[in-house]
Amino acid sequence: MHYALVRKKPHVRRNVNKRVLVINGSTRENGNTDAVLRSFMQGVSEGGLNVREAVLRNLTVNNCVGCCKCQKEKKCNFQDDMTELRDMVIKSDVLVFASPIYWCEITGLMKTFIDRLYFFHHKENSNLVAGKKALIITTLGEKDAAYESQVLVDFYKRFFHSLQIEILDVLSFPDLMEKEANVKKPEYSQTAYKAGKKLSGTI
Ligand SMILES: Cc1cc2nc3c(=O)[nH]c(=O)nc-3n(C[C@H](O)[C@H](O)[C@H](O)COP(=O)(O)O)c2cc1C
Repeated sequence: MHYALVRKKPHVRRNVNKRVLVINGSTRENGNTDAVLRSFMQGVSEGGLNVREAVLRNLTVNNCVGCCKCQKEKKCNFQDDMTELRDMVIKSDVLVFASPIYWCEITGLMKTFIDRLYFFHHKENSNLVAGKKALIITTLGEKDAAYESQVLVDFYKRFFHSLQIEILDVLSFPDLMEKEANVKKPEYSQTAYKAGKKLSGTI
C-alpha cells in the first residue's frame, strides 16, 4: 500500500463533555481514600473526562430527619450543602462513591449523603438520575476484600437498583489499616490511575 494514500483516522475525543463526580466519604484527611482518589482522578482527567470531587467531611450535610417532604412536595426541608450536591449529581454522567469500610459498611458520612438522595426516590425526580453510571471505591484494613465488602456491595446494589443507576465496577483497596498505609502499596496508585483513565472508554 502506498503510504501517501493511507489517511490517518482523525483522533476523535469522545466523551470530552462527560462529567464524573467523585463523592469522598472518608473521615480522614490525607488518609488512604484521599490518596487512592488523587491517582484515580488524575487518570479520569487524563482520560479526557471532566472530574470534580465532593469531600463530604468538609461539607454540611444534615442527617435526614424523615419528614418525607421530598416524597410529598419534591423538595427537601434543609438548606445545606446538599442542595448544590444534588445539582452536581444531576449534572454528572458517572458517580463515584468512595468510602473506607467501617464495620462492613460505608462511613456514616457517606450514609448520611445517601439518605439525603431519597429526594430522587420521588417518581417525578427519579428521571433526573435514572440511567447514570456508578463506580464504587472502597479502602479497608483487612486483607480479604471480598469478605469484608459483602454487606457494603449488597447495600449499594439495592440502592443503585432502586434509582436505576448502573454499577460499572467495584474497586477495592485492602490491607490499608493505618492512615498512610497506602505509601507501602505504590501499586494501588497505578491501579487507581488506570481505572480512572479507562473510564472514558467504558461510558
Ligand atoms: C470505625 C472503623 C471501622 C472499621 N471497620 C472496618 C471493617 O469492618 N473492615 C475492614 O477491613 N476495615 C475496617 N476499618 C479500617 C478502614 O477501612 C481503613 O483503615 C481505611 O483504610 C480507612 O480509610 P481512610 O484512610 O481514608 O480513613 C475500620 C476503621 C474504622 C476507623
